[in-house]
Amino acid sequence: MLYHEAMPVPDPLSHRPRRLRRSPVLRDALADVTLSTSNLILPLFVGDMSAPVPVASMPGVNQWPVSDAVDYMSRLISELNVRQFILFGVTPNSRKDATGSFAASDDSPVNRTLRLARERNIDAVLYADLCFCEYTDHGHCGPLSQVAHASHADVDNDRTLELLRTTAVAQAHAGADFVAPSGMMDGCVGAVRSALDEAGLYERGILAYSVKYASNFYGPFRDAGQGGMKFGDRKGYQMDYRRSREWQTEVLADVHQGADIVMVKPALAYLDVIHQVRQSVSVPVAAYHVSGEFAMLHAAAHRGWVDLKQGALEATTAIRRAGADLILSYFTPDLARWLNESSVSDHRTSPSRTPETR
Ligand code: PBG
Repeated sequence: MLYHEAMPVPDPLSHRPRRLRRSPVLRDALADVTLSTSNLILPLFVGDMSAPVPVASMPGVNQWPVSDAVDYMSRLISELNVRQFILFGVTPNSRKDATGSFAASDDSPVNRTLRLARERNIDAVLYADLCFCEYTDHGHCGPLSQVAHASHADVDNDRTLELLRTTAVAQAHAGADFVAPSGMMDGCVGAVRSALDEAGLYERGILAYSVKYASNFYGPFRDAGQGGMKFGDRKGYQMDYRRSREWQTEVLADVHQGADIVMVKPALAYLDVIHQVRQSVSVPVAAYHVSGEFAMLHAAAHRGWVDLKQGALEATTAIRRAGADLILSYFTPDLARWLNESSVSDHRTSPSRTPETR
């Protein structure tokens, strides 16, 4: 408990908090926020390229051909004990259309990766991103309503719900443990929950992107997922970061509709929101340390302005401290390696390295 301001001020040096910071052992002993590989989920981009394609704005991140993606997961499981993956699809323009119908196809790279991973008995929790922006020819997160025009793209909410239901069932049949609707459509969690239940898939869960802001930090992802918009922006469906209480509406709606896990996205610029969500609900809270946040750390590290390892560990631990149970992070393989190497207090003195290509 904090000393009340009205209490008499003791001798200023009668309290010496530095006593508890004197040695690495003591610092480790008192660290009450922990970061473990088991908290981490790695986003993976899968597609129909013939070999892994590096993503320029995300050092160390690739777009993976389906079978390479499954090999990569196996390697991460056996070597680093990374056991949770969320899959995003990379779609060739020839398969894109106005409604993003390829997302529900058995041929989609996400569904093929899920099936192959299950055939090979991959011992991991697999999440499937459930959104249409990687599959529509206009790049928005669902089919557009008639009134849409260039400056005001309007996704047809209720038509999108129908398509989400079909796609979620396809992903769950393919092997997804959790589907993750990320398009910020009203009612999407309830729609997807009832579709899964009606298909008998009641043991499959929903990781809800409950609190997702229209953020400037998604740029590199849109390179990686090729999910950029042809026109407009996502402000008509993603949240406005100038509103401080709207998260309550979104989180409560999703919990009532059956979300198993609620997510806040982005993470670093929204630690206050993560903290408040954590205080308000009992379901697990996930946070997405997004592509732009990853790219900023890399860009600064590349210039020698920030130590990559220390910066990534600090940022990720801060997301945990704010209250996230799970963290979606492109740093997952690096973090797993760093956490294996040494205790956090040692990190201060260990040399920094850029990660090897994954
Ligand atoms: C698609 C989606 C996006 C991200 C995850 N799912 C991009 C967007 O909303 O434009 C961003 C992830 C990241 O930046 O790492 N709905």
